[in-house]
Amino acid sequence: MTIMTSLPHGYRALVIGASGGIGSAVASVLEADPACGAVLRLSRRADGLDVTREESVAAAAERLDGEFHLIFSATGGLTIDGVGPEKSLRQISADAMMKQFALNALGTALVTKHFAPKLSRKERALMAFLSARVGSIGDNHLGGWISYRASKAALNQIVRTASIELSRSHPQAVLLALHPGTVATTLSEKYSGNHARTEPADSAKAMLSVLDGRDAGQTGHFYAYDGQPIEW
Ligand SMILES: NC(=O)c1ccc[n+]([C@@H]2O[C@H](COP(=O)([O-])OP(=O)(O)OC[C@H]3O[C@@H](n4cnc5c(N)ncnc54)[C@H](OP(=O)(O)O)[C@@H]3O)[C@@H](O)[C@H]2O)c1
Repeated sequence: MTIMTSLPHGYRALVIGASGGIGSAVASVLEADPACGAVLRLSRRADGLDVTREESVAAAAERLDGEFHLIFSATGGLTIDGVGPEKSLRQISADAMMKQFALNALGTALVTKHFAPKLSRKERALMAFLSARVGSIGDNHLGGWISYRASKAALNQIVRTASIELSRSHPQAVLLALHPGTVATTLSEKYSGNHARTEPADSAKAMLSVLDGRDAGQTGHFYAYDGQPIEW
């Protein structure tokens, strides 16, 4: 069954963070899409792409030939270098917070800067970043996880701002921040509590369907895997 019905037949896709639980599922779903012409997988593990270092991001983008109709960025972190999310203000560590911002926020900005120019200008093009519902400021009623929440709120603002600029050079492009749900990957293992966890393939299919269904007028928005908009 065709997954990306709104893209030209033979479309080209790029998955950044394809070594992750969600990223590898997104790449596999796209590879199985009969309408897909090519899927390129990029990751830190396989290719040395470190999204927190501009020279690494720029070099990875430069190595790519041709245009893409879909760029899905699935990098990110909740536990970085063994440090997990804070439960209280007392646990804030400058170093840990900077690492959250470097990966989730700066990484998004650098990937957008160097990879968005690779999106097709003449045909419909889609680009997505994995945010998290806990990055919503309006939806924050529990507190905690201040660094991760703040870095994902920054990711949302980066996506929103970039989408406005991109719509001038790429009028058919759609750039979204997506919440994948609570997905069964290493990232969520210790923190999902009693929440049921979605299989990565199901989350991937659901998010791709959300992306497929948005038009250029909906660029720069924040959606959950089930298509519901999430407040900023
Ligand atoms: N799982 C969930 O329940 C959940 C919920 C909400 C949001 N999210 C978001 O979804 C995204 C993916 O999560 P996941 O569950 O798939 O986690 P995961 O399995 O731990 O995958 C994380 C990915 O990020 C990559 N990465 C980490 N640091 C990097 C760096 N400096 N440069 C380049 N790549 C880097 C990893 O690459 P290597 O392995 O190659 O190093 C890996 O591909 C994250 O942004 C996360 O915040 C997940």
